Amino acid sequence: MLISGRRIIGLDIGSKNIKAVQLKDLKGGYQLDRLGMVSVLPELIVDGSILDAPRVTEAIKGLISDAGIKAKDAVISVSGHSSVIIKRISLPQMAEEELEESIKFEAEQYIPFDIEDVSLDFQILEQRQDENQMDVMVVAVKRDKINEYVSVVSEAGLNPVIVDVDAFALENVYEINYEINPNENIAIVNIGASTINMNILKGGISVFTRDSSLGGNLLSEALQREFTISYDNAERLKYGEAVEGVPQEDVAAILMSASEDIIGEISRSFDFFRTTSKQGDEIHEIILSGGCALVKDFVPLLSERIGIGVKIMDPFKNIRIPDSFDKGHLKRIEPIMAVAAGLALRRVGDR
Ligand SMILES: Nc1ncnc2c1ncn2[C@@H]1O[C@H](COP(=O)(O)OP(=O)(O)OP(=O)(O)O)[C@@H](O)[C@H]1O
Ligand SMILES: [Mg+2]
Repeated sequence: MLISGRRIIGLDIGSKNIKAVQLKDLKGGYQLDRLGMVSVLPELIVDGSILDAPRVTEAIKGLISDAGIKAKDAVISVSGHSSVIIKRISLPQMAEEELEESIKFEAEQYIPFDIEDVSLDFQILEQRQDENQMDVMVVAVKRDKINEYVSVVSEAGLNPVIVDVDAFALENVYEINYEINPNENIAIVNIGASTINMNILKGGISVFTRDSSLGGNLLSEALQREFTISYDNAERLKYGEAVEGVPQEDVAAILMSASEDIIGEISRSFDFFRTTSKQGDEIHEIILSGGCALVKDFVPLLSERIGIGVKIMDPFKNIRIPDSFDKGHLKRIEPIMAVAAGLALRRVGDR
């Protein structure tokens, strides 16, 4: 049910940066049409909750106008373990329509929230004829959370047509840009300011997802504590800028030791995946996105500690970039735009 000609933007409302991407459909591909990003103050969105809706709405409006976006339809996303649950469950075989009717009942025992408070969606993954069973991916998102995000977007004059989940947006953007090897397990890891999204793909199919509430803020907080500086100054240090009274050579050590906590969290999640996966699966590569991918020396540290090769996600690898875009600037913000680019790929009527 693709409404042809209707332009859609992907809008990723992060706790540090709000990003927008608009793509143009080409024959057999995509072209970048519009792109923008705006930072928000750290107190506006905390733990994935929008605490100051009017200012988030203002930020979105500013972003849309600065990026020259005319489209009205927006695909947005939510994430975080306190509001999004993605589970792979096994059910007796039944028709999709039948599951539509009974999903609430079937999923209830797997969802740690009150079933009446969530919006449920599902996808049938695999039929196991011999056992009369099928694998189903169930996604439950707290309605409060959806309403919160939908409301700021509507207030900004946009029309939120799809509410997606960060982990799936990342999977979408990975799929169109990277070759899928059926024998490999790839971990997509997105580290923002306050969330880590992990999605492990086995031969291109998602088999494990987890969100955790750690992120780049941990590094900023460590710098603030160590040097008794403001949040803004800590952010400047992370970007490699100098701050008066702070010895540059001490910054790297603090960043690295705080990074260990983030890496520990990823490592524990991978261990959990390995012990719970039926085949004792190995992970062959990490595709890293989010602002933390840009922290100096984070990538080699992650790779060394976990013992897996790390590639920084390029969400525009297979997307045509017109000459009007500043390619150097684009290169510098690539990993930060991954979720927004994934959202921009969604079309009304997709599953
Ligand atoms: N060039 C850079 N160098 C170092 N750190 C950076 C750079 N750019 C962004 N960051 C850090 O990355 C984080 C922001 O990344 P991102 O935009 O992916 O987060 P977000 O989507 O807003 O947050 P979340 O999804 O967790 O709510 C911040 O902690 C910021 O300090
Ligand atoms: Mg984010």
